[in-house]
Amino acid sequence: MNLKLKIWRQKDATDTGKIVDYNISDVSSDMSFLEMLDVLNTQLIEKGDDPVSFDHDCREGICGSCSLQINGQPHGPDGGTTTCQLHMRKFKDQQTIVIEPFRAKAFPIIKDLIIDRSAFDRIQQAGGYVSVNTSGNTQDANTTPINKVDADHAFDAAACIGCAACVAACKNSSAMLFVSAKVSQYALLPQGQIERQQRVQDMVAQMDEEGFGACTNTGACEAECPKGISLTNIARMNREYIGANLKS
Ligand code: SF4
Ligand code: FES
Repeated sequence: MNLKLKIWRQKDATDTGKIVDYNISDVSSDMSFLEMLDVLNTQLIEKGDDPVSFDHDCREGICGSCSLQINGQPHGPDGGTTTCQLHMRKFKDQQTIVIEPFRAKAFPIIKDLIIDRSAFDRIQQAGGYVSVNTSGNTQDANTTPINKVDADHAFDAAACIGCAACVAACKNSSAMLFVSAKVSQYALLPQGQIERQQRVQDMVAQMDEEGFGACTNTGACEAECPKGISLTNIARMNREYIGANLKS
């Protein structure tokens, strides 16, 4: 395949940035999207040009770091798929592909396609933990019975990889889907009950402090989430938040 790439280039956080055109040839349809960028970067390095900076780690859809806006869609055209697991067979020969970083005020661009997502880390630090008594004997893993339905919903919420596609997809740059997944995975389990009220208050407060927008129920976040995180988590977080405020 021969492709025309239009890639956001920005040398640092202070640079204005612009789209730069690149032509790339002999791209195999079996390559992943990131492998295609690897090929481009090899060619740029051979010419003495600055390679395109982009984030990645696991390349297995687990770490959530490979977030790219591809032809206007977070993680590109393949539903339920992270950028690293997107394959070039989803594109056509001679196609033009526009590649940009995720855009949100809370995620400043560091370089080219790399954004600073530490706002998510700070939200996690505000409440994404449980208190565990580590004195005495180790508790057997199965001594705390957990309702199967609750366990399944908690597991579904815990599938969130913190990629931020929900924020990129949202016209308000809302982080509600991400935060609600983290609140839900603990609120549904016995281990999360100790900090249950404080957790939702602290995580929502941190979310607001980071500058994310409000949720207006467009559902764009759920539609673009590569891990199928459901809007029902947002409804649960709203109930948790109201309940916590009434009790405190
Ligand atoms: S909710 Fe989905 S889109 Fe948002 S950070 Fe988690 S995995 Fe990514
Ligand atoms: S590189 Fe880890 S999810 Fe894509």
